[in-house]
Amino acid sequence: MTAELPDQASLQLNPDGSLRHLLTLKGLDRELLVRLLDDAEQFLSEPGVPLIRRNTLAGRTVANLFFEPSTRTRASFDLAGKRLGADVLNLDVNTSSRKKGESILDTIYTLEAMLVDVMVVRDASEGVPAFIARHVKDHVSILNAGESDVSHPTQGLLDILTIRQHKPNIQDLVVTIVGDIEHSRVARSAAYGLQTLNVGELRLVSPPAMAPASGDLDFARIVDNLEDGMRDADVVMALRIQRERIGNLDGIPGIDEYFANFGVSEERLKLAKPDAIVMHPGPMNRGIEIEGTVADGPQSVITQQVTNGVAVRMAVLEHVAGHHNV
Ligand code: CP
Repeated sequence: MTAELPDQASLQLNPDGSLRHLLTLKGLDRELLVRLLDDAEQFLSEPGVPLIRRNTLAGRTVANLFFEPSTRTRASFDLAGKRLGADVLNLDVNTSSRKKGESILDTIYTLEAMLVDVMVVRDASEGVPAFIARHVKDHVSILNAGESDVSHPTQGLLDILTIRQHKPNIQDLVVTIVGDIEHSRVARSAAYGLQTLNVGELRLVSPPAMAPASGDLDFARIVDNLEDGMRDADVVMALRIQRERIGNLDGIPGIDEYFANFGVSEERLKLAKPDAIVMHPGPMNRGIEIEGTVADGPQSVITQQVTNGVAVRMAVLEHVAGHHNV
């Protein structure tokens, strides 16, 4: 991957510093990041339990444009918009006119003509959300719902919210992310957000073929041995191997070899702190990057991450399109 485009952090803000688009957590102001987390908490009646409804997006239209598969992100943006009173359009990209050669911008202009206010975009190509953000009308906001291996900002927010609910002092934590770091937009967004919150130590653990190649994660400790990575960790996040984004499979371990060396197992989890939490952004491959009993075990907060995803997306939608900001 290449580093995120440098001007994205400023492109996503209005002149008054409020959120216009959400494209990246890299360079997002600490105060705004914390405000988004705090506002997401308002949509949880207690940690992990929704449901608060509001009508702050009444009269607004949110369009989900997912040009890559999704379960969690797409469903949670859909629910988040509806729980705020918006009209929500889930465009079926497999039957959309992009299949007939329509350009992405013509698709966007078509939706603008239908008075869509927020476009939630997932795309396999780097730069697409920012490209769209540069071309939409003033009242339209673009939310990045997963961009190549570069950025997945709402996932980063929900991951940090989940960590904060269990361990509020981020600056004291050892956070270990293990898996296919190089091809992971989830790892990057979590890393940038945690960096902004001055995380105690961030460890990125992977086989050499999946270690981050670019220099943009140099603030983290790069580790190629899971035992070293897990030792005394407060947070352990497992990632899947993102084969769809790996061009050359040379050096990529097979499933059994991967689990033997990098799987988060019950045995390895004993190396982390006794109260360590276990996370996974999903989709999850049991028996490859995580043992099923760990995923379902008492230290797992994986379903809480999913619940928090709706709350985070409600907060982000309110920031960019809620009537209190108009
Ligand atoms: N974590 C995540 O982005 O999941 P989906 O691909 O199901 O949206």
